[in-house]
Amino acid sequence: MATEARDLVFTHRFAPGSSSATLLLLHGTGGNEDELLPLGRELAPNAVLLAPRGRVLERGMPRFFRRLAEGVFDQKDLALRTDELAAFIAAAASQYHFDAVRVIAVGYSNGANIAASVLLRHPGVLAGAVLFHPMVPFEPSPVPSLAGTPVFISAGTADAMVPRPLTERLAELLRSSGGRVEVHWVNGGHELSRSEVDAARVWLAESQQIS
Ligand code: MLT
Repeated sequence: MATEARDLVFTHRFAPGSSSATLLLLHGTGGNEDELLPLGRELAPNAVLLAPRGRVLERGMPRFFRRLAEGVFDQKDLALRTDELAAFIAAAASQYHFDAVRVIAVGYSNGANIAASVLLRHPGVLAGAVLFHPMVPFEPSPVPSLAGTPVFISAGTADAMVPRPLTERLAELLRSSGGRVEVHWVNGGHELSRSEVDAARVWLAESQQIS
């Protein structure tokens, strides 16, 4: 994808690392570019970290795309913001000189939803993804080719915002696209729990060889 400095449109944090892999940290509704930096360092202490802030505001809370109601996404805006994020990743790689083919998204909730949207709309942009409590961002047609892309999904058995069938549908969709999907269930709700962070760290080390 051809990129220019003007594609670096997200307010963001960048933290260098000694690894050739970059974690793209995507916060949930109301988060910001600082929120997930400690999580990124915990998941992969040597990774490069890139953390954009969502450019949409919902009652003052940053998000990565507009929604019409809880769980009902503005599909036009989602497509636009997904393209914007994919262009940002490429522009940041050329600005900061990190390896554009080793970018792994780590997203929570709304951040996981835009990460899943990048996977489905721009296969090849992400080398993998950790999706904490995602939904199905959209149903792609035709199904993209994710050719072995590793994806970790974690979900809560009592998550009122993400009912179990939605998690299962996303896993099925990514698998039918050729993704290598691991689903980790926790006994809990929509909040991020210790056990899923630990499981994601192990998964990253095994599937992506990063630490
Ligand atoms: C979304 O809008 O992306 C989901 O409802 C999750 C969230 O509230 O952030």
